[in-house]
Amino acid sequence: MDPKRKSKVSLFAVVDEATFTTKLNIDDGGTTAHGVYISNMSVVNRWNGRPYSQRYYDMLEKRTSLPVWRQKREFLKAFEDNQVLIIAGEPGSGKTTQISQFVLETIDVESAYKHKRFMVGCTQPHRLAAMSVSRRVAEEMDVTIGEEVGYSVRLEDSISDKTVLKYLTDGILLREAINDPLLWRYKVIILDEANERSLATDVLLGVLKGVLKKRPDLKLVVISETHKAKKFQSYFFGAPLIKVPGRLHPVEIFYTQEPERDYLEAAIRTVVQIHMCEPPGGILVFLAGEQEIEDACHKITELVSEMGDQLGPVKVVPLFSTLTPLMLNKIYEPPPSPLTKDGLAGRKIVVSTNIAETSFSIDDIVYVIDPGFAKQKVYNPRVHVDFSFVSPISKASAHLRSGCVGRTQRGKCFRLYTEKSFKNDLQPKTYPEILRSNIAHTVLTLKKLGIDDLIHFDFMDPPAPEALMRALEVLNYLGALDDNGNLTKLGEILSEFPLDPHIGKMLVASSNMPISLFYDKPMFSVIPNCFVQPRKAQKASVEAKARFRHIDGDHLTLLNVYHAYKRNNEDESWCSENFVNYRALKFADNVRHQLACIMIRLNLKLCSTDFNNRDYYTNIRKALLAGYFMQVAHLESKGHYLTMKDNLVVHLHPSNCLDHKPEWVIYNECVLTSKLFIQTVTDVRGQWLVLIFTEKIFSSFFHLCP
Ligand code: CDP
Ligand code: MG
Repeated sequence: MDPKRKSKVSLFAVVDEATFTTKLNIDDGGTTAHGVYISNMSVVNRWNGRPYSQRYYDMLEKRTSLPVWRQKREFLKAFEDNQVLIIAGEPGSGKTTQISQFVLETIDVESAYKHKRFMVGCTQPHRLAAMSVSRRVAEEMDVTIGEEVGYSVRLEDSISDKTVLKYLTDGILLREAINDPLLWRYKVIILDEANERSLATDVLLGVLKGVLKKRPDLKLVVISETHKAKKFQSYFFGAPLIKVPGRLHPVEIFYTQEPERDYLEAAIRTVVQIHMCEPPGGILVFLAGEQEIEDACHKITELVSEMGDQLGPVKVVPLFSTLTPLMLNKIYEPPPSPLTKDGLAGRKIVVSTNIAETSFSIDDIVYVIDPGFAKQKVYNPRVHVDFSFVSPISKASAHLRSGCVGRTQRGKCFRLYTEKSFKNDLQPKTYPEILRSNIAHTVLTLKKLGIDDLIHFDFMDPPAPEALMRALEVLNYLGALDDNGNLTKLGEILSEFPLDPHIGKMLVASSNMPISLFYDKPMFSVIPNCFVQPRKAQKASVEAKARFRHIDGDHLTLLNVYHAYKRNNEDESWCSENFVNYRALKFADNVRHQLACIMIRLNLKLCSTDFNNRDYYTNIRKALLAGYFMQVAHLESKGHYLTMKDNLVVHLHPSNCLDHKPEWVIYNECVLTSKLFIQTVTDVRGQWLVLIFTEKIFSSFFHLCP
């Protein structure tokens, strides 16, 4: 085979990639497939029987040059010989998109459809990654998304009876295990991004270890970043490890001489400097939060356009988990063309949360800016509070960030902290989520899976006994577990909701009260994005927010936004005129629909107080309290609040909509900045709390409790 001829590959019908290694038995060491073509031979897609499109061949050429292809044969051999296999490699080597397709080659189409136990499931810790990667793989396989290749993420899926390859979040696979404990529908499970050690992946590891013993026919592939692969190897009794070579080009790392006072400002300044002084190539900037990212995107675009034709055009693209897959595609687009024929080169600038560290690999990035911070959520079981704050990243994270360049050419990484700080201040690694999370929902899931002995469950890193005790306690308070730790009927219902048990309880409570089905945590969690406040239109956006304001609290204000959005026919331009985030509302609407489906399936009533009834808002506040009765704070004489359960001194977050300081409030979360703030708060009554505890207010609902 003459590798020089590879550029012609798309002119001819290429043999199906399965053929490269199997039928034609061609050497796959380096030049694999590039030169393989047979003229005038039409090849049909074995998954849908249609001839391949030209795009398929174009993509195939790129795919076969990815590093994993060099080890395809080694992989297939090890896969055949072993039940568990660990794959390690740097981002961008093709693990996520290609390994699943290699695995598919081992599956016989006809028997697959006949026996039904054929699916390949590939888990992702992030829903956006699952959605976007499945689309990409469907394109690469030349099939329609939602048919042969699909995805399933929290509250949304796109699959059919024909689906053979499903990308799903780790949380969804865990939920599937509840109804199908031995995961019979899968033949192969790929745990991708296992190194990220998300809570659900950690639990899945333990669950799968048990399932593999009972199902010798099930195979597991664990994909990890190189440094963490050994740990998975020893967890799975020394399973073979295949290392995929990563970056091909050197990356220069630069540190600042002095610590930066304001990392956001420093990051923006560095972007502009690179654009002014460095040769063409994309820039990737890591920032902490969505609002910060949106602000930075505006600011960068503004600064560059202010400099006129001294600089080439830029395309500034945000990247965070609540984007739609369509918006995400922008990160893979080429940079903008020069404005004139001889004009300066354009540049693509991606501004991202730490989601870009491993979940998305963008090939044409040449410069990375790492300010050294990320937003972390940490649960403190002693006071039962989730703290979210911006904190320094770990050395492992810094390494991943610098690894985002150097794939196609030399790269540069600008760390906006000193070398001394890197060496002395950064922790070696990020703690797995299970060690820093509220595990109430996880415990509920494990109970539902029939795993009662949580102390002896084979966790890779067991959660702190205190966190486990707290979770059991919370579930007991909620009535999900009885005093002996057994799942109650209510607990079973709550485990069906892919939500924090508090919110699940709120919905169950609402079904027994004449109130509207309230939308949920995803809505709350996109709150920072619900109201858009661009710097240029600060005044107008504040006025717009005031128009939705409900003086009894933020939850009700959000409800007003939602109603207004529906009244205005879900119109995108209405959203931008009113400074609310269209994407966030569309997402909330979808979540609301999905939750309604779950409630119908569980035979829970969907009822609503008439909007004109004067108890409309009061009933909603009561339902909120039914779920959040443990997140209540009381106003003290000095003007601050004290959390009822743990006596923490907290303050109302300045973003709140209240026009007064209520005696009692419920809150969604604690945020630690200059002080400890409670965010998303709503006024509730002390006497409702009393009624909740004396079981009067939700008497019809409490019949579900033991
Ligand atoms: O998983 P890993 O980081 O090893 O790589 P991957 O996600 O499989 O990506 C392999 C290649 O596909 C990279 O060159 C990506 O840039 C490209 N890709 C893409 O162009 N569009 C996507 N939606 C996903 C991946
Ligand atoms: Mg990957």
